Amino acid sequence: MEKQNQRRIFSGAGAELWQPAERSIWTARSSDGGDQALALLKSLLDQPRWLAAQHLYDDIGSELFEKICDLPEYYLTRTESAILKERAEEIVRRAGVECIVELGAGTSQKTLLLLDAQVKQHGGGVFAPIDVSLASLRIARDSVERNFPQLMFHGLHGLYEDGIAAIEKDLPTLFVFLGSTVGNFDSWQFETFFSHVSRSMGSDDYFLLGVDRVKDVDLLKKAYDDSEKITAAFILNVFENVNRILGSNFDQTKMRYEPRYNAEWQRIEMYAVATQTQQIRVPGSKIEFSWHKGERILVEISRKFDPEQLQAQLRCFGLDPVAHYTDKKDWFSLVLFKKAARR
Ligand code: AVI
Repeated sequence: MEKQNQRRIFSGAGAELWQPAERSIWTARSSDGGDQALALLKSLLDQPRWLAAQHLYDDIGSELFEKICDLPEYYLTRTESAILKERAEEIVRRAGVECIVELGAGTSQKTLLLLDAQVKQHGGGVFAPIDVSLASLRIARDSVERNFPQLMFHGLHGLYEDGIAAIEKDLPTLFVFLGSTVGNFDSWQFETFFSHVSRSMGSDDYFLLGVDRVKDVDLLKKAYDDSEKITAAFILNVFENVNRILGSNFDQTKMRYEPRYNAEWQRIEMYAVATQTQQIRVPGSKIEFSWHKGERILVEISRKFDPEQLQAQLRCFGLDPVAHYTDKKDWFSLVLFKKAARR
């Protein structure tokens, strides 16, 4: 049965790459721990030092992020959910697909609105969330199985790029990328991501993108500097994961969180600052370096978007905008794109 299901959503090459991990969840064979450690080390030795946002999402990081989504200051999740609540039926009707693939899905709570519409309109289909957190995929699986037994669930435990490339091109699919996660990409990652997405999409496929918009600076600052300090804990927790991957000795008691709004780049920058000099050792690599008191490491960026400019830009990647939904305050946008016919 698992084999049969695998054939249904995976392309030939995809089936080679993904193997069953546990009930209804597949894992990518390609994840290479060695490459990951080396890439991490390179970014820590870069000038200035930085970290890739994906390392934020170990099990504790994923739990902290779920808490951020419920914070009063963090308007993104509830604003996007409100738009989805109003528009899910229309989005699903426009796309008219058999399969919904969610990128960086987390526990897929908002996506349940789309799945509900999918079941009502089509009686069933496939739901394939892709995420690097196995714990989040398990929660998503249990909730989808409970709420929508009509849907076939395939959790893909791995990186977006491996997941997107694995989906059968002939299966009409709606790719969903919510929560303004695309805002965590720098320009180079953005370019790589959309080139890859567009290449992997079939001619009947759609892409639903959720983005946070440029707005009042104070609102933005508060959303990334909450009074309960959950965002600080989320950002600094990345060093636990870094220590696990590298065997290094970053000490959270000797650092603090510092968010900044960069007006020119229209993005929040989230830094860890050393409050005391730390001597960092990375056992396997013979590398040792000083993280000096006052020196910052860029842990995450969160870009804010102008939806009109974004739509124009994504046309250049072969994605034609077909609908733009927003909230009453114009704080957040959901844009539905269709893969452009070959030009
Ligand atoms: C996942 N991503 C869209 C969040 C954001 O708003 O950029 C991550 C986050 N970092 C701190 N708070 C939320």
